[in-house]
Amino acid sequence: MTLSPQWLDELRSRTLLSAILAPSVKLIKAGREFKACCPFHNEKTPSFYVNDEKHFYHCFGCGAHGDAIRFLTDARGLPFMDAVKELAGKAGMEVPAMDPRAKEQAERSAGLYDVTEAAQRWFVEQLDGVEGGDARKYLKQRGISDATKKKFGFGLAPDSRGKLKKALETFGNDKLVEAGLLIQHEDKKEPYDRFRGRLTFPIRDPRGRVVAFSARILGDGEPKYLNSPDTPLFDKGRTLFNLDLAGPASRKAGRVLIVEGQMDVIALDQAGIGEVVAPLGTALTEHQLERLWRLEPAPICCFDGDAAGQKAAVRAALRALPHLSPDRTLRFVALPAGQDPDDVVRSGGKAAFEALLELSEPLVDRLWRAEVDAAPLDTPEARAGLRKRLLDHTQAIADPNVRQLYRDEWLGRFDSQFRSQQTQQQGQAFTRRGEWKRGKFTPPTPPVGQAARAISQIGVAPAMAAAVVAGCIRHPSVLHDHVEQVSLFRIADKPLAALRDFLVEFALSHPSLDSALLETTLRDSEHQPLAAKLLRPDRTSFSFNQKDADPARAYREFEGVLMMLVDKGLLENAFNQATDELKAEITEERLAKQAHLRAAIRDVDNRLASLASSE
Ligand code: UTP
Ligand code: MN
Repeated sequence: MTLSPQWLDELRSRTLLSAILAPSVKLIKAGREFKACCPFHNEKTPSFYVNDEKHFYHCFGCGAHGDAIRFLTDARGLPFMDAVKELAGKAGMEVPAMDPRAKEQAERSAGLYDVTEAAQRWFVEQLDGVEGGDARKYLKQRGISDATKKKFGFGLAPDSRGKLKKALETFGNDKLVEAGLLIQHEDKKEPYDRFRGRLTFPIRDPRGRVVAFSARILGDGEPKYLNSPDTPLFDKGRTLFNLDLAGPASRKAGRVLIVEGQMDVIALDQAGIGEVVAPLGTALTEHQLERLWRLEPAPICCFDGDAAGQKAAVRAALRALPHLSPDRTLRFVALPAGQDPDDVVRSGGKAAFEALLELSEPLVDRLWRAEVDAAPLDTPEARAGLRKRLLDHTQAIADPNVRQLYRDEWLGRFDSQFRSQQTQQQGQAFTRRGEWKRGKFTPPTPPVGQAARAISQIGVAPAMAAAVVAGCIRHPSVLHDHVEQVSLFRIADKPLAALRDFLVEFALSHPSLDSALLETTLRDSEHQPLAAKLLRPDRTSFSFNQKDADPARAYREFEGVLMMLVDKGLLENAFNQATDELKAEITEERLAKQAHLRAAIRDVDNRLASLASSE
């Protein structure tokens, strides 16, 4: 539109918002504001606030937010210009005349809506008519209900080059070409129907008007989908399929989802998840992201589990990076390989999809994972490459606070996971309980038992490994009683692992515990500097790392931590296995199992953290 932001501000400031709302919303004075039961969602206690000074309303329940114009378009369904005209009339303002070119464009567009709406009606008639048998059968096969068929306006483009042209001839070929319904080649030959022998459904703009069409081939064939070309009404990169319905639904649900395919949107809606949009066969654009952020701070990308889908997820993350802020980010759900949302709800229903949503990960994790998985990290050069890529990504973030925190987060993870990784080649760092025979410690044998496998596969975070080794020096009695557990942890840091091995050897070769002897043996060994460093009082706050801790409590806690680490190893193993099973096939049971394991791991982590912080 040609209305300037200044003019619209003037209109807002001359409009008493509460007076516009009053006829349809029962307002109660609350200090300098009004409150009311929200007109956009069902509620019994008011969480909808109206501020006349700031010219906006806001609902703390559903997030509805806007000014007087927004209220008239959203609550009363007026077209934008009609809302503006109504308010201008009340405010005694003149709506500026459009410049002639914009006016002509607007008029032409207005005419085109009639064309697309007429085409939509015609497609629907064809689907319901004699020629529609196969298409109706196809919809049935896909499990599309009659209600969904109607709601999303499924229709049929008959397999003919001229039927639509004939049916809509009153509009004239030029209009039909302009609306994208006919194809006109350069050679000026007769234009012909674009969509032929396909199931159609309309693409609507945010106000619900039909602006374009998607058309799917019935059964197999290429191309699977054909969309309208860009027209004066339709700009692919600025349009999101189903935004007009997903907007209001997202306010109720408190979330909005992005999927790859329009049929996924439709299948999810049928399953009871209406707050879903899809781009139109292209990567998400910044325009589309902007639109989504107006609805929700963290839209959830639910892209297919295949390589293409995951690439699209990463591309979306990168596109979002420059715009990240406290209320602008994305979350990600990785669908099982080979499945799209349509498949998931068809086999597991709404519950299966909800369970996947529970597992969504934030952008910071998704990009980290993408970069860590991008290439092997077995050399310092490769790890330096990872570090550089991560830092480059943070550079793209415009908000300085978010940028700093991404940097901290990623460098912290990098340091803890990769700084001493050079020691950890292919199982070399797996140190296990060895045999102590004839005064000699023989090289480790493969671990036995599930617990052993779990631990040796999972490893222990560096800080935790240091705390455990330090605890062993301070409390050799625990080391003595739990030497097997201690020997099993995979410790990436080479000197730390060597010290642990030294302690394990000592414990195995001195069945009768002798603290004093351990101390002197350590002091004379190459491990002395590291041991001294580990014993420095400020290292961690586990009681067993502190000098003056009550020995009984320290013993108990140390034992507890060792057990928890073993548990954690087992759980992580089980979780990985459950994830693999889930990737093979989604069932509610498998989803529940995986979610349960994830919660259990989090629980162990929480218990460990609370032990570490309770002095
Ligand atoms: P998919 O190939 O994943 O299709 O394309 P789908 O959504 O699962 O469709 P069904 O279930 O087989 O019917 C995802 C999206 O990519 C675009 C469309 O927007 C589609 O929804 N696409 C795909 C095209 O534009 N053209 C094509 O030929 C294929
Ligand atoms: Mn599909």
